[in-house]
Amino acid sequence: MPLLRLAVVGDPHGAWDGTDHTVLDRIRPDALLVVGDLSDGLPQVPSLLRRLQLPVACIAGNHDTGKDASGRTLRRQIEALGPLHCGWTLRDLSPPGLAVVGARPGTAGGGFHLSKAMLAAFGPLTLQESADRITQAALSGDPALPLVLLAHCGPAGLGSEAADPCGRDWKKNPCDWGDQDLALAIRQIRQRRPLPLVVFGHMHHALKRGGGLRRTFCRDRAGTFYVNAACVPRHGRDAQGRELRHFSWVELEADGQGGAVLLQASHRWYGLEGDLLYEEVLHRAPQPLEALQPC
Ligand SMILES: [Fe+2]
Ligand SMILES: [Fe+2]
Repeated sequence: MPLLRLAVVGDPHGAWDGTDHTVLDRIRPDALLVVGDLSDGLPQVPSLLRRLQLPVACIAGNHDTGKDASGRTLRRQIEALGPLHCGWTLRDLSPPGLAVVGARPGTAGGGFHLSKAMLAAFGPLTLQESADRITQAALSGDPALPLVLLAHCGPAGLGSEAADPCGRDWKKNPCDWGDQDLALAIRQIRQRRPLPLVVFGHMHHALKRGGGLRRTFCRDRAGTFYVNAACVPRHGRDAQGRELRHFSWVELEADGQGGAVLLQASHRWYGLEGDLLYEEVLHRAPQPLEALQPC
């Protein structure tokens, strides 16, 4: 069955440049998924992403509004991304054979809240309408291809503690800050087809108030996996002075019927030559034991 190697970029906040393209040239994923918060509305990151010579899908985040309540900056960023942007739509990445559907663009999480910029850019809509848009896009894809939902903020329902994948950590009382329209869409989609994976960002890994690091991976009772890719800042340097570039990494084995087995998931920090310097393993699929040889 086809193996899909996906690199996921969490919340660049401007940390995206030619060095990331060099790393991608070396590690050669089958597709790149970008979960938004590219910058604060500046044009450089969309322009660079458009130049990549590999399949890319992207969703706008709340910072992509550039704090411009008129919605014009958000619209301009989405137009600059062109076909890469898949908010409420299907992006069929063939090759490698992957259906990517974007959730609600521009979200800042918190259940279902539409900012002034989002209202200006997209007009009013209800939670149910947003969920139905995501669902319809998912059901319009080739049912044989594995489906990945690409969201800026993850869905409600992944926990209400500060360290949960979408837990609010910046106020004293933590709560579930996930999006309810996305959670509803996931339930609706799974009534009709498999959903192996949801990737998102927005809820940065380092918790406020000295809370340590967030849980960034989970699997729900229906078998869908969730990866929070928002390692911020994603450009860094280790104690030896080596430059680091963060990508989340997911490998899926498609089953030919719209589902997939998650073979592995990790957070990876690469050097500028594409050498893997650090890895936090989130998941490794169990391997069958080698047949024991008689001694
Ligand atoms: Fe965000
Ligand atoms: Fe962010």
